[in-house]
Amino acid sequence: MNKKLTFTIFGGTGDLTFRKLLPALYNMSVTSKRESVGQVIIIGRRDYTSEQYRVIARDWVEKFARLPYTEKDYDRLAAGVFYYKMDFTDEKAYTQLNEFYEEMEAESHIFYFAVAPRFFSSIVTGLAHVEHACHGKVVLEKPFGENLTAAKELNEKMESFFRPDNIYRIDHYLGKEMVRNIQTIRFANPIFSGVWDAEHIDCIQISALEEVGVETRGGYYDHSGAMKDMVQNHLFQILSIVAMEQPGDLMLAGEEMHREQIRVLSSLNMPEDIEDSLVLGQYRGYREEKAVAEDSLTESYAAMKVFLDNDRWKDMPFYIRTGKKLGHREMQVLVVFKTAAPHVQSNILNIKIQPTEGVYLQFNIKKPGEEDEIAQAKMDFCQSCSFINQMNTPEAYERLLGACVRGERFWFSQWDQIEASWKYVDEIRKRYHDKKLPVYAYEPGSYGPHAADKMLEKAGDHWLD
Ligand code: BG6
Repeated sequence: MNKKLTFTIFGGTGDLTFRKLLPALYNMSVTSKRESVGQVIIIGRRDYTSEQYRVIARDWVEKFARLPYTEKDYDRLAAGVFYYKMDFTDEKAYTQLNEFYEEMEAESHIFYFAVAPRFFSSIVTGLAHVEHACHGKVVLEKPFGENLTAAKELNEKMESFFRPDNIYRIDHYLGKEMVRNIQTIRFANPIFSGVWDAEHIDCIQISALEEVGVETRGGYYDHSGAMKDMVQNHLFQILSIVAMEQPGDLMLAGEEMHREQIRVLSSLNMPEDIEDSLVLGQYRGYREEKAVAEDSLTESYAAMKVFLDNDRWKDMPFYIRTGKKLGHREMQVLVVFKTAAPHVQSNILNIKIQPTEGVYLQFNIKKPGEEDEIAQAKMDFCQSCSFINQMNTPEAYERLLGACVRGERFWFSQWDQIEASWKYVDEIRKRYHDKKLPVYAYEPGSYGPHAADKMLEKAGDHWLD
């Protein structure tokens, strides 16, 4: 019998599957890479047949796929997608799932947990009833756990069933083209690598601003909030790439890069002046969102001032902010260099991660003409503007699914990174709440609470947009 590779998604009727995973599989299908993940089993509680599910999924794929939608390409993808109804919290249901896998001739597995972390443990318990499951790979969505203690327990549970090197903890920011590019821009260019330190840089601002609110994810988000949803994972990953020492290779990520990232996360300084180091906010109208508590104090915005206790970054602030329902969508790393003289403006390097991918550099020139004045030259390289580039650049999930099949673990978060980030995020949140600092309200469409501007003003800086 021909035993097949089977890619199973738990949480197949959720937002992540519709918006990210199925469109990624479609793109892989168009670029002839979909076969690498094998047949796709979608697990959900709703009462659909495979045929009904494929019809529903079609609209999402059409809307969210990176590559142009055609019926022919979708039908090719859909032919390999099967819906299986089950309650994945019911251990008894896994015996039947095992029979279904038998019918599908499935033996080698990749399981994708596209569900809230509180369900991970019961899925693992259930999978003990599925033959060969423990030899498979598992992809876990972030956040990994809900705090350090839960993350540790979860890790133990996962490692007691799956082989540690078969556990892939996804952080989709690591699959973004410009996040991977940070390392190359830094280390392959002596004009930057030679001045990448506190001696030459005034501050670094990392922003992940979103226009959308919590939309259909209120139930998950209200238990999470911006610190756990974005800072603990995506933003700390970026911070650690921006601040790490040079790993051996200029471009390829690997063990060495991972070690350097850990060193950064372990050197995060825990501030004494918490009120000047962290601002949490909530957009007006958040409490009226579906599945959000009416007295919720969950933050939909977080801004931080952090320092690293190491020689390279001594006394230089990293400003980090993220939020929902803001004026526009923008993810960027802005490096503000020290000025050459008091009346001269800073050089600014902006690594633009999304929606536009590119690099902006601002530097000083003589103003053309007779006057003896200095002006700013602004060079803006747009990497994503050309259609060819868009066609060639895989979207993050597409890239990471392929990396999982190939066993390229360095594209994923490693356990000790997660542990170091949780340690910091748990403690700083605790200090904020112990001091009873407010969760500031802000207007949808704004740049977040004024308190976040004031935090920078107090430090003699301001957010650059
Ligand atoms: C997810 C968060 O990990 O990242 C979401 O859970 C957030 O709340 C999303 O909206 C942002 O991802 P992207 O790729 O749109 O920047």
